[in-house]
Amino acid sequence: MEDIPNMNGFIETVQLKGLTISLIASGDHTEIIHHKLQPNTRWALEPEEGWEALEYLFVISGMLKLKTNDGFVVFKAGDSFHRSPVKEHYVFQSIEETEFLYVSSQPVFHRYSQITRNLMNLVISIEEKDGYTGDHCARISRLSMLVGEALGLGSKQLLRLNMASFFHDLGKVKIPQEILQKPGKLTNQEWEIMKRHSIYGREILEETKLPFLMSAGIVVEQHHERYDGKGYPYGLANDEIEVEASIISVVDSYDAITTDRPYHKGKTKEEAIVEIERCRGTMYDPIIVDTFLSLRDRI
Ligand SMILES: [Fe+2]
Repeated sequence: MEDIPNMNGFIETVQLKGLTISLIASGDHTEIIHHKLQPNTRWALEPEEGWEALEYLFVISGMLKLKTNDGFVVFKAGDSFHRSPVKEHYVFQSIEETEFLYVSSQPVFHRYSQITRNLMNLVISIEEKDGYTGDHCARISRLSMLVGEALGLGSKQLLRLNMASFFHDLGKVKIPQEILQKPGKLTNQEWEIMKRHSIYGREILEETKLPFLMSAGIVVEQHHERYDGKGYPYGLANDEIEVEASIISVVDSYDAITTDRPYHKGKTKEEAIVEIERCRGTMYDPIIVDTFLSLRDRI
Protein backbone atom coordinates (compact mmCIF):
# COMPACT_ATOMS: atom_id res chain seq x y z
CA MET A 1 0.00 0.00 0.00
CA GLU A 2 1.34 3.45 -0.86
CA ASP A 3 2.03 5.92 1.95
CA ILE A 4 -0.13 9.03 1.68
CA PRO A 5 1.43 12.32 2.87
CA ASN A 6 -0.49 14.27 5.54
CA MET A 7 -1.36 18.00 5.32
CA ASN A 8 2.25 19.02 5.99
CA GLY A 9 3.45 16.84 3.17
CA PHE A 10 4.97 14.38 5.65
CA ILE A 11 4.24 10.68 5.34
CA GLU A 12 5.59 9.88 8.75
CA THR A 13 7.32 11.91 11.48
CA VAL A 14 9.64 10.80 14.26
CA GLN A 15 11.02 12.87 17.14
CA LEU A 16 14.28 12.06 18.86
CA LYS A 17 15.69 14.55 21.37
CA GLY A 18 16.24 17.85 19.52
CA LEU A 19 15.56 16.28 16.16
CA THR A 20 12.36 15.84 14.18
CA ILE A 21 12.61 13.79 11.01
CA SER A 22 9.79 13.45 8.52
CA LEU A 23 9.62 11.34 5.42
CA ILE A 24 8.40 13.51 2.53
CA ALA A 25 8.63 11.10 -0.37
CA SER A 26 10.04 7.71 -1.18
CA GLY A 27 10.25 5.59 -4.29
CA ASP A 28 12.65 3.88 -6.65
CA HIS A 29 15.01 3.23 -3.70
CA THR A 30 15.28 6.93 -2.91
CA GLU A 31 14.02 8.77 0.17
CA ILE A 32 13.60 12.49 0.78
CA ILE A 33 13.54 13.29 4.46
CA HIS A 34 12.88 16.64 6.12
CA HIS A 35 14.95 17.30 9.25
CA LYS A 36 14.31 19.95 11.88
CA LEU A 37 17.01 20.40 14.51
CA GLN A 38 16.70 22.42 17.69
CA PRO A 39 19.76 24.62 18.43
CA ASN A 40 22.92 22.67 19.37
CA THR A 41 21.64 19.33 18.09
CA ARG A 42 24.03 16.94 16.38
CA TRP A 43 23.32 15.00 13.23
CA ALA A 44 25.80 12.69 11.56
CA LEU A 45 26.56 10.99 8.27
CA GLU A 46 28.54 7.84 8.79
CA PRO A 47 30.17 5.27 6.50
CA GLU A 48 28.69 1.79 6.67
CA GLU A 49 29.80 -1.60 5.34
CA GLY A 50 28.16 -2.40 2.03
CA TRP A 51 26.50 1.01 1.85
CA GLU A 52 27.02 2.69 -1.52
CA ALA A 53 24.28 5.30 -1.41
CA LEU A 54 24.39 8.89 -2.57
CA GLU A 55 23.63 11.07 0.46
CA TYR A 56 22.74 14.72 -0.04
CA LEU A 57 21.56 17.47 2.25
CA PHE A 58 20.19 20.92 1.42
CA VAL A 59 19.81 23.57 4.12
CA ILE A 60 16.40 25.29 4.03
CA SER A 61 16.81 27.60 7.02
CA GLY A 62 19.10 28.16 9.99
CA MET A 63 22.76 27.19 10.17
CA LEU A 64 24.73 23.96 10.46
CA LYS A 65 28.40 23.74 11.30
CA LEU A 66 30.56 20.81 10.29
CA LYS A 67 33.73 20.11 12.25
CA THR A 68 36.75 19.59 9.99
CA ASN A 69 40.42 18.93 10.68
CA ASP A 70 41.21 22.63 10.60
CA GLY A 71 38.12 24.20 12.17
CA PHE A 72 34.52 24.44 11.05
CA VAL A 73 32.61 24.86 7.83
CA VAL A 74 29.24 26.61 8.17
CA PHE A 75 26.27 25.72 5.97
CA LYS A 76 23.55 28.35 5.61
CA ALA A 77 20.17 28.38 3.85
CA GLY A 78 20.72 27.40 0.21
CA ASP A 79 23.96 25.51 0.88
CA SER A 80 24.24 21.80 0.18
CA PHE A 81 26.54 18.87 0.88
CA HIS A 82 26.80 15.44 -0.69
CA ARG A 83 28.92 12.31 -0.69
CA SER A 84 28.57 9.09 -2.72
CA PRO A 85 29.22 6.98 -0.80
CA VAL A 86 29.97 8.48 2.62
CA LYS A 87 33.49 7.36 3.51
CA GLU A 88 34.15 9.40 6.68
CA HIS A 89 32.23 10.49 9.74
CA TYR A 90 30.62 13.89 9.28
CA VAL A 91 29.05 15.38 12.40
CA PHE A 92 26.91 18.44 11.82
CA GLN A 93 25.70 20.67 14.64
CA SER A 94 22.88 23.20 14.42
CA ILE A 95 23.90 26.68 15.57
CA GLU A 96 20.26 27.78 15.66
CA GLU A 97 16.98 26.04 14.82
CA THR A 98 17.73 24.53 11.43
CA GLU A 99 15.76 22.74 8.75
CA PHE A 100 17.26 20.73 5.93
CA LEU A 101 16.29 18.18 3.35
CA TYR A 102 18.18 14.93 3.30
CA VAL A 103 18.11 12.69 0.23
CA SER A 104 19.42 9.15 0.20
CA SER A 105 19.49 6.73 -2.70
CA GLN A 106 19.00 3.79 -0.32
CA PRO A 107 15.97 3.71 1.95
CA VAL A 108 16.92 4.37 5.56
CA PHE A 109 13.96 6.14 7.07
CA HIS A 110 11.80 3.23 8.06
CA ARG A 111 14.67 1.27 9.51
CA TYR A 112 16.07 4.30 11.32
CA SER A 113 12.80 5.80 12.45
CA GLN A 114 11.19 2.62 13.69
CA ILE A 115 14.22 1.64 15.71
CA THR A 116 14.74 5.07 17.26
CA ARG A 117 11.04 5.45 18.03
CA ASN A 118 10.87 2.05 19.69
CA LEU A 119 13.97 2.75 21.75
CA MET A 120 12.72 6.19 22.78
CA ASN A 121 9.50 4.65 24.02
CA LEU A 122 11.46 2.03 25.90
CA VAL A 123 13.65 4.64 27.58
CA ILE A 124 10.64 6.67 28.70
CA SER A 125 8.96 3.56 30.14
CA ILE A 126 12.15 2.67 32.05
CA GLU A 127 12.52 6.16 33.53
CA GLU A 128 8.98 5.95 34.85
CA LYS A 129 9.42 2.42 36.23
CA ASP A 130 12.65 3.51 37.87
CA GLY A 131 10.97 6.41 39.70
CA TYR A 132 12.31 9.26 37.59
CA THR A 133 10.00 11.89 36.15
CA GLY A 134 10.94 11.47 32.52
CA ASP A 135 13.84 13.80 31.83
CA HIS A 136 16.61 11.88 33.61
CA CYS A 137 18.11 10.58 30.36
CA ALA A 138 17.99 13.97 28.68
CA ARG A 139 19.77 15.55 31.68
CA ILE A 140 22.45 12.83 31.73
CA SER A 141 22.97 13.34 28.04
CA ARG A 142 23.31 17.13 28.34
CA LEU A 143 25.78 16.98 31.24
CA SER A 144 27.80 14.19 29.60
CA MET A 145 28.17 16.25 26.43
CA LEU A 146 29.39 19.25 28.46
CA VAL A 147 32.10 17.06 30.03
CA GLY A 148 32.98 15.39 26.70
CA GLU A 149 33.39 18.73 24.98
CA ALA A 150 35.50 20.11 27.85
CA LEU A 151 37.75 17.03 27.52
CA GLY A 152 38.18 17.78 23.80
CA LEU A 153 36.72 14.49 22.56
CA GLY A 154 36.52 14.08 18.78
CA SER A 155 33.24 14.17 16.92
CA LYS A 156 32.97 10.38 16.65
CA GLN A 157 33.41 9.99 20.41
CA LEU A 158 30.95 12.80 21.10
CA LEU A 159 28.36 11.09 18.94
CA ARG A 160 28.90 7.82 20.79
CA LEU A 161 28.70 9.64 24.14
CA ASN A 162 25.49 11.34 23.07
CA MET A 163 23.77 8.04 22.24
CA ALA A 164 25.22 6.01 25.13
CA SER A 165 24.36 8.62 27.75
CA PHE A 166 20.77 8.77 26.56
CA PHE A 167 20.38 4.99 26.42
CA HIS A 168 22.60 4.05 29.40
CA ASP A 169 19.83 2.34 31.42
CA LEU A 170 17.95 0.90 28.46
CA GLY A 171 18.68 -2.64 29.71
CA LYS A 172 16.46 -2.04 32.78
CA VAL A 173 13.56 -2.85 30.51
CA LYS A 174 14.49 -6.52 31.03
CA ILE A 175 14.66 -6.26 34.85
CA PRO A 176 11.48 -7.47 36.65
CA GLN A 177 9.37 -4.58 37.89
CA GLU A 178 9.29 -5.89 41.49
CA ILE A 179 13.08 -5.61 41.63
CA LEU A 180 13.27 -2.25 39.88
CA GLN A 181 10.63 -0.73 42.15
CA LYS A 182 11.44 -2.48 45.41
CA PRO A 183 11.39 0.19 48.13
CA GLY A 184 13.85 -1.53 50.48
CA LYS A 185 17.30 -2.97 50.01
CA LEU A 186 17.71 -5.64 47.33
CA THR A 187 18.71 -9.17 48.37
CA ASN A 188 22.01 -10.46 46.98
CA GLN A 189 20.14 -12.49 44.42
CA GLU A 190 18.01 -9.52 43.33
CA TRP A 191 21.09 -7.34 43.11
CA GLU A 192 22.78 -9.87 40.80
CA ILE A 193 19.76 -9.64 38.50
CA MET A 194 19.74 -5.82 38.67
CA LYS A 195 23.41 -5.71 37.70
CA ARG A 196 22.64 -7.43 34.41
CA HIS A 197 21.01 -4.25 33.06
CA SER A 198 24.27 -2.97 31.60
CA ILE A 199 24.80 -6.13 29.54
CA TYR A 200 21.14 -6.17 28.49
CA GLY A 201 21.51 -2.55 27.32
CA ARG A 202 24.44 -3.47 25.08
CA GLU A 203 22.55 -6.46 23.70
CA ILE A 204 19.46 -4.42 22.83
CA LEU A 205 21.55 -1.77 21.05
CA GLU A 206 23.46 -4.46 19.15
CA GLU A 207 20.23 -6.02 17.96
CA THR A 208 19.43 -2.78 16.08
CA LYS A 209 22.39 -3.49 13.72
CA LEU A 210 22.77 0.29 13.36
CA PRO A 211 26.51 1.06 13.65
CA PHE A 212 26.14 4.20 15.79
CA LEU A 213 23.92 2.37 18.31
CA MET A 214 26.09 -0.76 18.31
CA SER A 215 29.12 1.36 19.11
CA ALA A 216 27.20 3.09 21.93
CA GLY A 217 26.35 -0.37 23.30
CA ILE A 218 29.98 -0.96 24.33
CA VAL A 219 29.84 2.21 26.43
CA VAL A 220 26.42 1.34 27.88
CA GLU A 221 27.78 -2.02 29.04
CA GLN A 222 30.56 -0.24 30.99
CA HIS A 223 28.61 2.54 32.69
CA HIS A 224 28.83 0.83 36.12
CA GLU A 225 32.49 -0.10 35.90
CA ARG A 226 34.66 1.65 38.51
CA TYR A 227 38.08 3.25 38.16
CA ASP A 228 39.45 0.95 40.91
CA GLY A 229 38.19 -2.18 39.17
CA LYS A 230 35.43 -2.93 41.70
CA GLY A 231 32.53 -2.18 39.37
CA TYR A 232 30.43 -4.45 37.19
CA PRO A 233 29.87 -6.38 34.97
CA TYR A 234 33.55 -7.16 34.25
CA GLY A 235 35.58 -5.37 36.93
CA LEU A 236 37.49 -3.33 34.34
CA ALA A 237 39.86 -0.70 35.76
CA ASN A 238 41.12 2.76 34.72
CA ASP A 239 42.31 2.69 31.07
CA GLU A 240 40.31 -0.46 30.31
CA ILE A 241 37.15 1.61 30.68
CA GLU A 242 36.03 3.67 27.69
CA VAL A 243 36.26 7.39 28.45
CA GLU A 244 32.60 7.85 27.50
CA ALA A 245 31.59 5.27 30.13
CA SER A 246 33.70 7.02 32.79
CA ILE A 247 31.91 10.28 32.00
CA ILE A 248 28.45 8.70 32.23
CA SER A 249 29.38 7.09 35.55
CA VAL A 250 30.14 10.47 37.19
CA VAL A 251 27.20 12.30 35.63
CA ASP A 252 24.72 9.50 36.38
CA SER A 253 25.78 9.45 40.06
CA TYR A 254 25.51 13.22 40.33
CA ASP A 255 22.01 13.15 38.87
CA ALA A 256 20.92 10.23 41.08
CA ILE A 257 22.16 12.04 44.21
CA THR A 258 20.41 15.32 43.40
CA THR A 259 17.08 13.97 42.08
CA ASP A 260 13.95 13.39 44.20
CA ARG A 261 12.58 9.88 43.76
CA PRO A 262 9.74 8.06 45.50
CA TYR A 263 11.91 6.64 48.32
CA HIS A 264 14.78 9.06 48.23
CA LYS A 265 14.86 12.83 48.73
CA GLY A 266 17.40 14.51 46.46
CA LYS A 267 20.43 16.16 48.07
CA THR A 268 21.77 19.61 47.22
CA LYS A 269 24.30 20.30 44.47
CA GLU A 270 26.97 21.04 47.12
CA GLU A 271 26.34 17.74 48.94
CA ALA A 272 26.53 15.86 45.64
CA ILE A 273 29.86 17.52 44.75
CA VAL A 274 31.32 16.48 48.13
CA GLU A 275 30.18 12.90 47.47
CA ILE A 276 31.71 12.86 43.96
CA GLU A 277 35.01 14.29 45.26
CA ARG A 278 35.08 11.66 48.02
CA CYS A 279 35.01 8.89 45.38
CA ARG A 280 37.61 10.53 43.08
CA GLY A 281 40.16 7.84 42.19
CA THR A 282 38.10 4.96 43.61
CA MET A 283 34.74 4.90 41.87
CA TYR A 284 35.53 7.66 39.39
CA ASP A 285 38.37 8.52 37.06
CA PRO A 286 40.16 11.55 38.63
CA ILE A 287 40.45 13.36 35.27
CA ILE A 288 36.72 13.06 34.68
CA VAL A 289 35.92 14.27 38.21
CA ASP A 290 38.22 17.28 37.79
CA THR A 291 36.68 18.14 34.44
CA PHE A 292 33.15 17.71 35.80
CA LEU A 293 33.89 19.94 38.80
CA SER A 294 35.53 22.58 36.59
CA LEU A 295 32.10 22.92 34.97
CA ARG A 296 30.23 23.28 38.27
CA ASP A 297 28.83 26.73 37.36
CA ARG A 298 27.22 25.25 34.23
CA ILE A 299 25.83 22.14 35.94
FE1 LIG B 1 22.64 1.97 35.23
